[in-house]
Amino acid sequence: MPITFDKSTGQFHLRNGNFSYIMRILENGCMGHVYLGARLREAAYPLLDIPFGGFSNNIQTPTRFEYPGGGNGDFRQSAFDLRFAHSGAGLAEPCYKGHRIYGGKKAIPGLPATYCEDDAEAETLEVDLEDGPSGLRFRLYYTVFRDYNCLARHTCVINGGTDTVYLENTMSLSLDLPDSRWNLITLTGAWAREFELNDAPLRVGFQGIASRRGVSGAQTNPALILRRPMTGEHEGEALGLSLVYSGNFKADIEVDQSDIARLRAGINNDTFCWELKPGASFDTPEAVLAWSRQGLNGLSRQYHELYRRRLARGPWRDRERPVLLNNWEGTYFNFTEAKILEMAQKARNLGAELFVLDDGWFGRRDDDRSSLGDWYPHPVKLPQGVKALAEKVCAQGIKFGLWIEPEMVNPDSDLFRAHPDWAVHIPGRFRTEQRNQYVLDMGRPEIVDHLFSVLSGIIGGAPISYIKWDMNRYITEPFGLGLPPERQGEFFHRYVLGLYDLYGRLTGAFPDILFESCSSGGARFDPGILGFAPQGWLSDDTDGLERLAIQEGASLVYPLSSMGAHVSAVPNHQTGRLSPLSFRGMTAFFGCLGYELDPAQFSTEEEGAVKRQIEFYKAHRRCFQQGRFYRLLSSLPGRTGINGPYPQEARYAAWMTVLGSEAIVGVYKLLTNPNRRPFRLKLAGLDPAAQYRVDVWDGGDFEEEDRRLNRGIRGGDELMQAGLLLECNTALRHGDFFSELFILEQLKN
Ligand code: DGJ
Repeated sequence: MPITFDKSTGQFHLRNGNFSYIMRILENGCMGHVYLGARLREAAYPLLDIPFGGFSNNIQTPTRFEYPGGGNGDFRQSAFDLRFAHSGAGLAEPCYKGHRIYGGKKAIPGLPATYCEDDAEAETLEVDLEDGPSGLRFRLYYTVFRDYNCLARHTCVINGGTDTVYLENTMSLSLDLPDSRWNLITLTGAWAREFELNDAPLRVGFQGIASRRGVSGAQTNPALILRRPMTGEHEGEALGLSLVYSGNFKADIEVDQSDIARLRAGINNDTFCWELKPGASFDTPEAVLAWSRQGLNGLSRQYHELYRRRLARGPWRDRERPVLLNNWEGTYFNFTEAKILEMAQKARNLGAELFVLDDGWFGRRDDDRSSLGDWYPHPVKLPQGVKALAEKVCAQGIKFGLWIEPEMVNPDSDLFRAHPDWAVHIPGRFRTEQRNQYVLDMGRPEIVDHLFSVLSGIIGGAPISYIKWDMNRYITEPFGLGLPPERQGEFFHRYVLGLYDLYGRLTGAFPDILFESCSSGGARFDPGILGFAPQGWLSDDTDGLERLAIQEGASLVYPLSSMGAHVSAVPNHQTGRLSPLSFRGMTAFFGCLGYELDPAQFSTEEEGAVKRQIEFYKAHRRCFQQGRFYRLLSSLPGRTGINGPYPQEARYAAWMTVLGSEAIVGVYKLLTNPNRRPFRLKLAGLDPAAQYRVDVWDGGDFEEEDRRLNRGIRGGDELMQAGLLLECNTALRHGDFFSELFILEQLKN
């Protein structure tokens, strides 16, 4: 995985066993981009960055840069924009000054980032650029990983001059690709329908996503995925760009008249301006590029592995996650201590390992109109407090977890009455409420200190094993009371830094507690938060069919170990849909399984089925949570078409996960059709030379005939080239949402 520098050509070559990233020092001293793609041998590549002109009058002007600032007659969107305080000038032309190459990877101060446990896992290049007239320096960081086709980049700006600089834009990364023959995939959505997958060809002009909500948002996840038009799930070139950040971001692509596609990602410059005094420095968040020529599945696996092993941290990173029961949809705010104890007892009897008490346990919170900020036990619901309840729950043989929403305050709360100025607002202006609440200004250290002290008191004062950290509104009327007028552009980023500070302090103080992030479902499900909380609540939509789409979208970037997935009651609270318990269970299996309902409502038959689900999941959960994940068939209309549009395929979704000698295939028949025809489902990720024992879990819905035909010893090659045989019995019973799990065990030679 060497990073090499050829002095004679000024060329840097970064590579691991599979891909290469090449750049060079241009004749004018700027850094030019040369190549990103399949690994190239060590050589000079003068032809790869020949300028072909067009955007400038000077056809000799290079066209592809590493960190462009709008100089050189480059009229495209730049990686940085700035203003010098005294001169008012807005241009800097950073030129190469020097570089360092070393094993391992440095942390980014105050920000989550990917890391190494051993310096041999990665190599880092730091390139120093300097703008001569002003003394402003840019340090570009590039880390290439040995085991993942990923390259992490970020930028540090250092004011080495004498004038104050206002950074009006400082992207984490800019990347000029030589052509635009790509499809762009983005993950957008809204509450309860997060991670909707959009897939459309790039075109000349701008396209991209951004957030101005204070968090990454359910509307836009901070990732851009590119695939070649012919790239499918299993074959073809794909390139990803994922930003390790939880606040306002921008990720866009500009295709120019020369067909060059400029990708950028970083803090959203529309809501950002940072004052950089002489001697001060500013670090951007990290952006992670991933590359694959094994299709979108191949690309996703690069992110899954890197993010699961080297972004998530703490003891829970590698541990099997507990099966939990959360009371939210079972009771909402309406519970007593006795009801909670009954639910916990039943959860334990079903085999769950963790009971989670959600919203409503504190202050006077009987609905969503009051008490956020008052983190003391509700005197009526928890008369003996959190500690006593947690002890009673634990005494029943199940662990105890608690919901919090630290960043929020209700106007009707003791905290707000004592500190009305702590809530984000513009003095003299109307304060917008969302869900009857305001946001605390996390950019103010005294507020973060207060929250740390109160929350660590609660968490440390009771046998708590798990925390669900929620965040249920976006930020409006942004304004930092502690910031002078010329620094108001720092407000949003300071909020994120304060949030990370609190997350870091709490997870550091309680390393054995499993933290799950949440933001009305998946409104802040991003790599930044994954750096603190190894799992997150993906969506408030727990409908099995919807979950197939949501989990599929999220799986483009995020590993199964990061996805909280719950089985809830029917009719589903978000869609009203009725679907079998088996179907809901088998979608939630592909993630960190939980139940979110009142177990007292189960019939005896359902109780038995849930027990079997939990037992099965526990026996195979390492494979479900940590296995190599393959999207085999999509539930999304048209998307299966990436691999070829077969009408019968459109009726199915199928997932697969492989760990060591074990593989599990989940097959979901969505809407049924009469007089069906047999269908073969090709598997992936197996050893073609190995033999597998194929078995079928008895908690599914397919006919015994299907099970009988598929059980037995089969070759990995046969299973991948010909597949499992489904619906060989045309008299399949009536109904929609059937599902089945196949378990494969690789036999020893
Ligand atoms: C939104 C979350 O997504 C839900 O799971 C639940 O915790 C509620 N908030 C509680 O207010």
